[in-house]
This record gives sequence, C-alpha cells and structure tokens, in this order.
Amino acid sequence: MSYDLVIIGGGPGGYNCAIRAGQLGLKTAIIESRGKLGGTCLNVGCIPSKALLHASEYFEAATKTFPSMGVKVSGVELDLPQMLKQKDDAVDGLTKGVEFLMKKNKVDYVKGFGRIAGKGRVEVTGPDGAKQTLETKNIVIATGSEPTPLPGIDIDEDRIVSSTGALSLKQVPKKLIVVGAGVIGLELGSVWRRVGAEVTVVEFLDKITPTVDSEISTAFQKILKKQGVKFELGHKVVGVEKLRDRLEVTIEPAKGGQARTLEADVVLVAIGRRPFTRDLGLEAVGIKTDQRGFIPHDGHFKAADGVYVIGDVTTGPMLAHKAEEEGIAVAQIVAGQWGHVNYDVIPNVIYTYPEVATVGKSEEELKAAGVEYKVGKFNFMANSRARTNHETDGLVKVLEEVATKKVVGVHMVGAGVGEMIGEICVAMEFGASAEDIARTCHAHPTMSEAIREAAKGVDGWVMQS
Ligand code: FAD
Ligand code: NAI
Repeated sequence: MSYDLVIIGGGPGGYNCAIRAGQLGLKTAIIESRGKLGGTCLNVGCIPSKALLHASEYFEAATKTFPSMGVKVSGVELDLPQMLKQKDDAVDGLTKGVEFLMKKNKVDYVKGFGRIAGKGRVEVTGPDGAKQTLETKNIVIATGSEPTPLPGIDIDEDRIVSSTGALSLKQVPKKLIVVGAGVIGLELGSVWRRVGAEVTVVEFLDKITPTVDSEISTAFQKILKKQGVKFELGHKVVGVEKLRDRLEVTIEPAKGGQARTLEADVVLVAIGRRPFTRDLGLEAVGIKTDQRGFIPHDGHFKAADGVYVIGDVTTGPMLAHKAEEEGIAVAQIVAGQWGHVNYDVIPNVIYTYPEVATVGKSEEELKAAGVEYKVGKFNFMANSRARTNHETDGLVKVLEEVATKKVVGVHMVGAGVGEMIGEICVAMEFGASAEDIARTCHAHPTMSEAIREAAKGVDGWVMQS
C-alpha cells in the first residue's frame, strides 16, 4: 500500500492535516502512539484544562458571586471525583469524535510509534511490538511537544507534577506552589485556588505572562492577586525536598541572593514545553533540529525533500489553532493548492477568570521595531454589560500603525474576552483600521462594545467614558 501522505502524530496539527488531506482526496494515514487521537490538546492539554476551569469557575461563583446577585445557596460542596469525571468524559467524547472524523474522511488510523526509515518510508511499531512499514510520497511530522523539566527536580506526577499530573490531583492540595507564571501555571493554579488551595507562583522574570503586552499583564496580575494568588516574581526554584508530610521548596532571587524555603503539598512545574522528536529517525532524511530542539522548515513547512513539519515541534507559538492552521496549509500544498498561515493573526487566550486575549503586536514589540503607532483603550468598568454582570475588571487596548492605518495589535483582559478576540482576527485579516471597528455597529449591551470604544479611542473619540 502506498500513501500520498503519512502523518506522524495525531494532535490538532496532525488530525486537522489528515481531515483536510482526506477532503482533498489524498490517500492518507495518521500514526499515533498514545492509544487515542487528539494529541496533547485533547488528552492532557486544552480540553481537560478548560473542563476544570469551567467547573471550578462555577464552584467559586456559587459561593462568592451568587449571594451578591440575590441568589441564596447553601451547602455548596466540592465533589472532586465528579469534577474530574466530567473532565474525563469531555476528553473521551472528543477523542472518539476525532477517530470518527478519520473514518469519515477515509484516513487510515495506524496505532503505534512512527519512525522515519528513509525518504518515503515510515516504520510503525504497534502496541504489541509488531512492526510494519508504510510507503508514502510525503511525510508530515506532527509529533508535538512535552513539558520542559526543571533540572534537579524529579516530576513524579503525584506530589511534584507537570500539567498532566495537575489535571488529575486526587485531592485539593492545601498549598500549591507553581513554578512558572506562564499560561499553564496561571490556568491550573486558578483551578486549584478556586477549589481551596493556597497558591504561590514562583516566576523567574519580573513579570507574569512575559510575552503578553506589559500593561495587560500588570493589570492581570493585580486581578489575580486580588483573588488570592501569591507571587514570588524574580525568583527561581533551586530545589524541592520531599518530606513525608510536605515538600520543602527552596527559592532564590533570580539575580542571586538569600535563599528561602516555602512549604507545599504539591509543586506544579510549568516552565514551558519542548519539542518532541525522540526516536523519530530524523537522521534518515538528513533533518537537523535547531539549538532548542525544534525542526526548522523553509517557510513553506518543508523540512526535507518530501517531509513537512507542523505544530509544536516546529517554530512559532505552541498553540493548538496554530498547529491546525499549519496542518491545513500542508494538506493543501501536498494537494497542489495554496497553503499559507498568517502568523500576524494568531490569537492567544489565557482561560482564567477573567480571561486574557491578545492578537498581533504588543506595545513593547512595536517600540522595539521602531513602528509609530496610536493607542485606544477602554476599561470594562465603563461598559454597561460588564457593570450589570458584576464583571468590571479589565480593559481593551487597540494598537494601530500610523503609516498603514491598520490595526496591528489588540490586547484585552476581561470576562469572556477569549470569545471576543475572533472579531478582531477577522478585522485584522481584512486589513481593518481602528475606524473600521469603531464605525461597526455592536449590539448593546454587550462586552464587545468595549472593543468599539477602545477603537474609537485610537482617533480620540471615546464616547462612553
Ligand atoms: P500534540 O498535540 O502534542 O500532538 C502530538 C502527538 O504526536 C501526541 O499525541 C504524541 O503522542 C504523538 N507522537 C509523538 N511522537 C510520535 C511518534 N513518533 N509516533 C506516533 N505518535 C507520536 N493550546 C491552545 O491553543 N489552547 C489551549 O487552551 C491550550 N491549553 C493547553 C493546556 C495544557 C495543560 C497544555 C499542556 C497545552 C495546552 N495548549 C493549548 C497547547 C496545545 O496543546 C498544543 O499547542 C497542541 O496540542 C500542539 O498540537 P500538535 O499537533 O503540534 O502536537
Ligand atoms: P510558558 O512559556 O507560557 O510560561 C513559562 C513561564 O515559566 C515563563 O513565564 C518563564 O519565564 C517561567 N520560567 C522558566 N523557567 C523558570 C524557572 N526555572 N523558574 C521559574 N520560572 C521559570 O509555558 P507553560 O505555561 O509551561 O506553557 C507551555 C505552552 O503551552 C505555552 O507555550 C502555551 O503556548 C501552551 N499553552 C497554551 C494555553 C492556552 O492557549 N490557553 C494553555 C496552556 C498551555
């Protein structure tokens, strides 16, 4: 059997590439070693974390928000096994859904570990150890990423956990120390704080979410602090001692100085993810990874003759929808069509409460690039829907490039902004100016009116504050 396309890795990069390839009539196989399709995202990433974020947000609202809205509830209790079960059910349903989509699009799902054996050949070792070789015109590497370990600290996924362990803790830790104030640390830290943990986040740098526009990340940190999250910025964890009844975590100022010890029941290590290329046989097709272990490509996803690369394992943001975009592009390229990803319009959402949603360039990036820009801002405090919903924390910030009069960045922190960012992505793809957004009628009363007001602010005519 010879394929047009063999995809190694069944995450959002791989499975979306497979679906599109199937739609375009390419004879396609997808190889996945974890026993379930969906990759990190569906199994131990986006989906389970959002299931816990949603449920824990309800739990906290029931006790903290309902009374102020005139809803009396008593006897609110956490049923952690059920909270974890509904998360597992969401994962199960969606991974089976992806398997169905493979069948629907006539993609062969091959269970096992794939290794490139040479140009046009992928050897698969099945769960029973049996080997088979698939012949193919094109190979797509979509093997994703894994948590970056912290040197000297052993992750046991019980008391010292990566994101995977943090999605399945059997009881709520009294004290949780999170290493890394990035997306995972703040999302999963939020989950466990809401259900009762005292959470301290230790971050190497002087700010949280370092890649987010500074004004937004500062506002975000203030809100998280108000919720009770403690921060040790500018600190690193240098050791964790496992005692019978607790963990002793030694932290040190990043710039050097006096070490201190913090106590914890659980430590979550969330200092980033690294590309996964172990035993992939890259040498068989002459592919060399870059210094950080990523597989580079030629700008059109080609890593070697007949080999493409997409998703977390190659350069760019490590996001499911970025992997998906690249998967679609590669399927189309292999089918002889156009395939393109606009990296200027990849949204980024942090699904905490409130959410953070950003797309395009931050003010710091524009300054560093010497781009002249105008800013418009609007606080949710002045948005009527935010006020009626008691959800006034946060702001919207719109950045427009002076020379082109195009919106080049929008940064928001606020309730539900993760859903609102889609409007901006469409506007940016159409080359919108701030005025285009400002002159677009938005429904009243909605949170999205804050975007319109911030866009008006670029040309100095904010009306509602
Ligand atoms: P992956 O999803 O990692 O899939 C790669 C697959 O390849 C894996 O299933 C692996 O088993 C398989 N594989 C590897 N090597 C082989 C081999 N040799 N043979 C066979 N199979 C192999 N992103 C978002 O956009 N939004 C979110 O809300 C979000 N939340 C996240 C929450 C957490 C806790 C984590 C950890 C990540 C989150 N991410 C989120 C990131 C997102 O999961 C990744 O960006 C995305 O999964 C990358 O997709 P991918 O297809 O490149 O790789
Ligand atoms: P991250 O890159 O978002 O954050 C890691 C943080 O750890 C950074 O702030 C960094 O400065 C800090 N750090 C690094 N080394 C440290 C050390 N030794 N001590 C203390 N702090 C240290 O990585 P994270 O949170 O692990 O997430 C990995 C990837 O997964 C991200 O790139 C993200 O794109 C993706 N993801 C996306 C989500 C979303 O879109 N909502 C949710 C979760 C993950």
